[in-house]
This record gives sequence, C-alpha cells and structure tokens, in this order.
Amino acid sequence: MSEHGFKHVGVIGAGQMGSGIAQVCATHGLIVTLIDQDAAQTVKAKAQIRASLEKLEAKNVIQAGTMVAAMERLSVATDLAALKDADLVIEAVVENEPLKSKLLAQADQLTRRETILASNTSSIPITRLGAATTRPGQVIGMHFMNPVPLMRLIEVIPGMATTPLTTNRILALCQALGKEVSRSQDYPGFIVNRILMPMINEAFTALMEGIASAEDIDKGMQLGTNQPMGPLHLADFIGLDTCLAIMEVLHEGLGDPRYRPSPLLRKYVEAGFLGRKRQRGVFTYT
Ligand code: CAA
Ligand code: NAD
Repeated sequence: MSEHGFKHVGVIGAGQMGSGIAQVCATHGLIVTLIDQDAAQTVKAKAQIRASLEKLEAKNVIQAGTMVAAMERLSVATDLAALKDADLVIEAVVENEPLKSKLLAQADQLTRRETILASNTSSIPITRLGAATTRPGQVIGMHFMNPVPLMRLIEVIPGMATTPLTTNRILALCQALGKEVSRSQDYPGFIVNRILMPMINEAFTALMEGIASAEDIDKGMQLGTNQPMGPLHLADFIGLDTCLAIMEVLHEGLGDPRYRPSPLLRKYVEAGFLGRKRQRGVFTYT
C-alpha cells in the first residue's frame, strides 16, 4: 500500500470540481465512488471524465490504456450509503456551509471511524466544518483548483483540531496525485481565494461603474498582466454563484467592508446567469 494508505475514495458532488477530483483520483489508481443527488449529473460527469481522459491520452499527457483502467475504477451513485467502504471522503458540493456541514455529518455516521473527511470548500473555515462531525481530528481542507486535471496546485488546510497524522496522509496523497501543495492556515478564503476573489470582484465593480466594457477589462488584465484568461472570463469559468458565495464568506468571516460583494456580481447570480455551466454569465457560450 502507498504511503497515504488510501484505496477507496468517495467524492460527494459530481459538478465541475467533483468530477475533476474523481478523474484525477481514478487516474492515479484509487477506487472512486462519485455521488450526486442528481442522477443526470452523474451520467454527465462520467461522460465528461471519459472525454477528458480521451483527450489527455490522445495528447500523450497520460499513457495509452489509462482511460479504460480509470473508468473501470470509477462508479457513480446517488445515495450517500455508497460511501460506506471509503477510507477518504472528499466533499465537493456547492459552496454552502449548512449543506456541507450536513453532508459531512452524514458521512461521519456512514463511514468507518478511521475514514478521513476532506472538503474542497473554496473559503469556508475547516474548523467549523470539522465541528459538525464527531471526528474533527480527521477533517481537513483539500482545495483543488479548476480544471482539476490540468491545474498543478492543491491547497491543504488543517483545521484547529486536525491531527498531524491526518495532514501527513493528505500531503502524501497530494504528492501521489502528482500535485504541488500550498499549506494554508484556516482563515476564510485560505490563500488563493483571499487574493483572487477580490480581484474578480473588483472587475465586476469596474464593469458596473462603466470604467470599460467586459471585453476591455478582460483584455487589459489578460494581456497586461499575462493571465491565461481575464477576470470576468475566469469568473464565468468558476461559476458566478461560487464567486458570490466566496465573497460572502470573506465579507462575513473577516468583517472588513473591502470584501463587500459587488452588486453587479450579485445581480448576475439573481438572474441565474451563473457562467459557463449555464451557457450564460458575463459572456454567453454555445
Ligand atoms: N481535461 C482535459 N483537457 C482539458 C480540460 C480538461 N478538464 N480542460 C481544458 N482542456 C484542454 C482543452 O480542450 C484544450 O485542448 P486543445 O488545445 O486540444 O483544444 C487545452 O486544454 C487548452 O484549453 P483552451 O484552448 O480551452 O484554453 P486555454 O489554453 O486558455 O487553457 C485553461 C484552458 C487551462 C483553463 C487556462 O485558460 C487557464 O489556466 N485558465 C485559468 C484557470 C485558473 O485560474 N484556475 C483556477 C481558478 S480558481 C480555483 O480553482 C479556486 C476556487 O476555489 C474558485
Ligand atoms: P457545481 O455547481 O459545478 O457542482 C456542485 C454539485 O453538487 C452539483 O452537481 C450538485 O448537484 C451537487 N449537489 C448539491 N447538493 C448536493 C447534495 N445534497 N448531495 C449530493 N450532491 C449535491 O460546483 P463546483 O464548481 O463543482 O463547486 C463545488 C465546490 O468546489 C464548491 O465548494 C466550490 O466552492 C469548490 N470549488 C470550486 C471551484 C471552481 O472553480 N468552480 C474551484 C475550487 C473549489
């Protein structure tokens, strides 16, 4: 058995992040059960994982045969009971604290005592999520970046009660998945979103104030600061609902008005223009 000791990973939430996490885990030899409350989403996630692996195989990023082997290790379900044999559960449902706490508490009841519970939350303090379970020493933040198969980083966030053993096993897993790690203290937004989201939020305020068109804001930042995509395209890519939820966690958790969500960002979410996943956000997608 490898250093991390995990064989079977359960992933809750088969959206863009959960499916990417499941893909990377299955590609690296783990048995994966991917769960979503929406059966259609599990079917879509499986098709997306297959397409992504086919593409990576065609480009020789992964070895021939990896796709078939990974798909054999992956199963999907709609019932949390399928987590029963997992020795690691990674929660990746929408950025909503009551929902995440509820699902982690259910995973706590359903799994063996030694199972580790990780959250892919973008911003919510891990200490609070851990306190929703009877095993806070085995609860940790494992923040993958989007798109998971391509991005090199995982932020690892131990909560106040997380044991060194839990942290060390997760660090060993990140390495086995071929990722780099940034370790963060447990404060709202951790490292990446504490810095990235205020920039994205400011792009919405600039757009709201008529400083420039969406295209010019993105062009300015993409070509002027060498970013792979402008902040408004990146917000559409992440999901505007997720961006707003993160800003709300930063605003409430840090108590500083500089994290106030942009009213324009809020308006897009209220309109249901959530970004690429809904084919419409700041920009439209076919
Ligand atoms: N699997 C396999 N291949 C994929 C893929 C996936 N999941 N996603 C994209 N690709 C492929 C594309 O199909 C494309 O392949 P071809 O060249 O053969 O067409 C290739 O990757 C490049 O993609 P694109 O041409 O679409 O565009 P790109 O060159 O801009 O690369 C990108 C795409 C990697 C997403 C790049 O734009 C990028 O790095 N963007 C920024 C991403 C980023 O900042 N992520 C972090 C977000 S913040 C976060 O994750 C934390 C949070 O909590 C919100
Ligand atoms: P998403 O909207 O694409 O997917 C969320 C999934 O959770 C959906 O498929 C939904 O059906 C499922 N879900 C909701 N309630 C559920 C329940 N009770 N039981 C099972 N499944 C349920 O969202 P996403 O972009 O994948 O984000 C998921 C998490 O990852 C969030 O916490 C987000 O902050 C975090 N995150 C997102 C990004 C990003 O760029 N989008 C990056 C890093 C981390």
